[in-house]
Amino acid sequence: MDTQANQTVSMPRIGDPAPSFTAVTTQGKINFPEDYKGKWAILFSHPADFTPVCTSEFMTFASMQDKFQKANCELVGLSVDGLYSHIAWLRTIKEKIEFRGMKNVEVTFPLIEDITMEVASRYGMIQPGESNTKAVRAVFFVDPKGIIRAIIYYPLSIGRNFDELYRALIAMQTTDAFQVATPADWQPGDDVIVPTAGSCGVAKERMEDTENLDCKDWFFCTKKLDKSLVLSTLIKE
Ligand code: BEZ
Repeated sequence: MDTQANQTVSMPRIGDPAPSFTAVTTQGKINFPEDYKGKWAILFSHPADFTPVCTSEFMTFASMQDKFQKANCELVGLSVDGLYSHIAWLRTIKEKIEFRGMKNVEVTFPLIEDITMEVASRYGMIQPGESNTKAVRAVFFVDPKGIIRAIIYYPLSIGRNFDELYRALIAMQTTDAFQVATPADWQPGDDVIVPTAGSCGVAKERMEDTENLDCKDWFFCTKKLDKSLVLSTLIKE
C-alpha cells in the first residue's frame, strides 16, 4: 500500500511557468504570477507563524527587502496559517522581537494565507515525510516572464541563508543579461564562465571581446566581468 510519503505528487519544475493562483494576503488580494510580470518574484513558504526559526527568517528577509527591490525583485511569503494569525504574528515581530540587532521590523511584503493548503500543495510545499500539516521551507524564483528559474527546499528545522538567495538572484540576472554562466560561489566582480564552448576557438568566435577570455581547456573558459558593469546593469538605486 502506498503511504502518504510515497504518493506521487506533481510539482512545478525549473523552466515551467509558475502555476497561477489568486490569494488573500496581508497586503490584500494578489494574482500570482500575473501581478509580478516584468519583475522577478520570490515565492517562499514557511512552516508556521509564531515559531522561532520562521520569525528569524522573516526579520532577516524583511530587512533585506529594499535590496531585493533594487534588483527588481519582490518577495511573497506563504504559510498554511490564516490571515489573522499572520497579522498578529507580524505585529508581534514588530513590537516585541529583537534579533541580531534587528528590531521594529515591519514586514511589508505580502504573506499569503493558505488554510486550504491549495497553493502549498500545487507548489509541492507540503512534503508529508517532513510534515502533513505544515509547508516546508520552499523558495521559488520566478522571472519577469513568469517562468520558474530556481527552486530551493529546506527542512522545517533549518533557517535559510538569505544572502545566498540574493546571490542566486543576481547570478541568474547576470546570466540573462550577459549570456554567461557563473562558477561556484560566484559573486559580482568574479570571473564568469563562457558557456557552451565546444573549443576555445568556438568560445572566442562567440565573443565580441576575446581579449579577456581565459581558456584552461576546451571546456573551461572564463572571462572578466566588471562588478561595476554588473551592478549598474542590474541594480536600480
Ligand atoms: C520554527 O520556525 O522554529 C519551526 C517551525 C516548524 C518546525 C520546527 C521549527
